[in-house]
Amino acid sequence: MERLIKERLPRHVAVIMDGNGRWAEKRSLSRIEGHKQGVKAIRDTVETARRLGINVLTLYAFSRENWKRPKREVTALMRLLKEYLKRELQEMLDNDIRLVAMGNLEDLPPDVRKTLRETIHKTRSRNGMILNLAVSYSGRAELLRAVKRICQDNSKGKLRAQEITSEVFSRYLFTNGLPDPDLLIRTSGEFRLSNFLLWQIAYTEIYVTDVLWPDFRKKDFIKALLDYQKRERRFGLTRRQLTG
Ligand code: IPE
Ligand code: IPE
Ligand code: MG
Repeated sequence: MERLIKERLPRHVAVIMDGNGRWAEKRSLSRIEGHKQGVKAIRDTVETARRLGINVLTLYAFSRENWKRPKREVTALMRLLKEYLKRELQEMLDNDIRLVAMGNLEDLPPDVRKTLRETIHKTRSRNGMILNLAVSYSGRAELLRAVKRICQDNSKGKLRAQEITSEVFSRYLFTNGLPDPDLLIRTSGEFRLSNFLLWQIAYTEIYVTDVLWPDFRKKDFIKALLDYQKRERRFGLTRRQLTG
């Protein structure tokens, strides 16, 4: 941790928390047991991010495609989400964490949606860190939603075609107001995006680790951050241009 350069920490870290099922299967446990352990990794990661002073932590908790999993697993995931929110509320308040969520939240069971809405409301004026939960999230759906809203504003005469810049487009996304992620971490060794943040990660540094999500702890997070700090982010420029 001492090796981290405070001034070069990512402002926004996004995480694809993958590998709960494999973690459980390796131990001949039910996949649900893996998700339960996964919650512990979430708590640890949120705490570390907050301590380090990261501004935004986005966690991919449930994709829109995940609704197609066996009903038992989906139900358990929804229950775990609700329990997590209830259990962590005080922790969020104490640590000045503001919860926000993105995704097709209408898909959530009413009680989960209610708890989510309440947690968002109760933490709304905290400003130490933003914890952004992606639930029932799909990057493509987010883009389509933005396009539809832009069309509506255009037909109402509120937005002209020539005014649609990258900045304007970004405002139509769930992440409106948040910086783009600087670092994207995916656990469990899979090199794919699984429909996560397609627009926002144009210049994000990607880090993939073989560690399965339930095993992901502070030391693994620090490892990812150290790796990130070794990268040269060029944004299309040449090295010479960057170093002056
Ligand atoms: C990630 O772990 C959690 C969710 C997608 C909800 P998985 O459940 O995808 O675990 P694996 O990929 O099957 O190991
Ligand atoms: C991505 O993991 C979604 C979450 C981590 C919530 P998946 O396990 O659903 O992704 P695929 O199916 O391996 O691409
Ligand atoms: Mg998976």
